Amino acid sequence: MTWQASVVTLFPEMFPGPLGQSLAGKGLRKGRWAIDAFDIRGFATDRHRTVDDTPFGGGAGMVMRPDVVDAALAAAIAAGPERPALYLTPRGRVLDQAMVRDFVAGPGLILLCGRYEGVDQRVVEARGLLEVSIGDYVLSGGEPAALVLLDACVRLLPGVMGAAESGVEESHADGLLEYPHYTRPADWQGRAVPPVLLSGHHAEVAKWRRAEAERITRERRPDLWARHAGRDRAPSAPCVTENQCAGRDRAPSAPCVTANPQDAAAAPAMDGRPAAA
Ligand SMILES: C[S@@+](CC[C@H](N)C(=O)[O-])C[C@H]1O[C@@H](n2cnc3c(N)ncnc32)[C@H](O)[C@@H]1O
Repeated sequence: MTWQASVVTLFPEMFPGPLGQSLAGKGLRKGRWAIDAFDIRGFATDRHRTVDDTPFGGGAGMVMRPDVVDAALAAAIAAGPERPALYLTPRGRVLDQAMVRDFVAGPGLILLCGRYEGVDQRVVEARGLLEVSIGDYVLSGGEPAALVLLDACVRLLPGVMGAAESGVEESHADGLLEYPHYTRPADWQGRAVPPVLLSGHHAEVAKWRRAEAERITRERRPDLWARHAGRDRAPSAPCVTENQCAGRDRAPSAPCVTANPQDAAAAPAMDGRPAAA
């Protein structure tokens, strides 16, 4: 089945954008995934096609109207199979590789991109949108965030990456950063390649790579290293969709948000499946 991405945006012409190139672009043309963009402005009802208004309570900036955004979301939901619906926002759960793998295991995603000060919170709640951030900084709009998230997903779809570029051995695949890479020439500007890589001894190469991955993770990302080192006993982040709940061996002791109806009732906004508003 084709993995289906629907983007709800004020700038539909930004898609597929860079995802039309390289591996993602080839995958798109081969039908491994599909993308459609829904222009929020097309769902405005007044003569001026207004999509935003001033914030209640005062303050700077404009807020995207819930009625207009909701109508655009409804069209995106109706256009494909039932999929998690996400709102890209710097206030969301920070995207990581485990979330990406979980999204890829499903039929696709609906992505709502904000602009201005963001979207009226009532539409986020009414549709049960999963709020996702791509990092602790603020972009001017959700579109670049949607492109980043989609790129991370699409490259993992079957048939998109070649075997040579397999995502099995790379940073974050098993909780470690990746070891460094080298190619020809073996000596460049007086800098030699680590001799073990020229030895032809596969077991020694694998041992060196593992040790380097551990060293780099320990030095650069103590947070990842602590989680990796204590993986069997430390709680990890709560799972966010049923796919993650099914794969609990990855996250042994984290609370499960969606599998238990009581948990789900306690945290409905983390589900991400479109609600019938
Ligand atoms: C200028 S930002 C709004 C920032 C918002 N007023 C705040 O302080 O949280 C406009 C839009 O960009 C998107 N955006 C900005 N930073 C993002 C991030 N780190 N991750 C995901 N989306 C982001 C969101 O869709 C947001 O609604």
